[in-house]
Amino acid sequence: MCDFEMPFSFNEWTIGPKLYSWILKLIPGDGVILELGSGEGSGLLSKHFKVFSVENFKEYMIYGTNYIYAPCPEGSNWYDPQLIKDRIPDKYDCLLIDGPRGGENRLGILDNLSLFNLDDPVVFVDDINRDHELRIFNEIIGKTRRNSIIIKDEYGEIKKKFGIICDTI
Ligand SMILES: C[S@@+](CC[C@H](N)C(=O)[O-])C[C@H]1O[C@@H](n2cnc3c(N)ncnc32)[C@H](O)[C@@H]1O
Repeated sequence: MCDFEMPFSFNEWTIGPKLYSWILKLIPGDGVILELGSGEGSGLLSKHFKVFSVENFKEYMIYGTNYIYAPCPEGSNWYDPQLIKDRIPDKYDCLLIDGPRGGENRLGILDNLSLFNLDDPVVFVDDINRDHELRIFNEIIGKTRRNSIIIKDEYGEIKKKFGIICDTI
């Protein structure tokens, strides 16, 4: 059940409106999304898709998705990889990389890429206007050799970019 009030408005913590519309464009209506990092935007996505959210803070597990609670082990700033491995769905149409909180913390995915299918799902990397996220985007492209595109997402005071890695782009 979803614990927050609509109406929804995009903000500095959520995916932006363009990222949202690209997900709607590229992912089929009955599609499965695996996201790293939950927030209000996850609740919006769950109205259209089956969403699995890896999240390290319980307070953000209130948006009505299928939660995979994966706190960061002591001494680490990234999710516990074993908890992810055991709980993520076998198949997903979309991988959305938008967590954990704090750009540098997200770099942990680079040591754990083997947990994810990077060859078939559409991969979105949010916030690639920032160096750490751009590095994640570029390393996934380097590893998979798939097509990619960078999109500007600007709304209100917020000016950011996200990347899409996808065979059909
Ligand atoms: C960018 S947010 C993830 C946003 C999510 N994908 C969405 O579209 O709403 C990254 C992390 O910040 C934390 N977070 C989510 N909402 C937040 C908020 N309103 N304020 C502070 N931290 C938040 C959560 O731990 C989340 O995993």
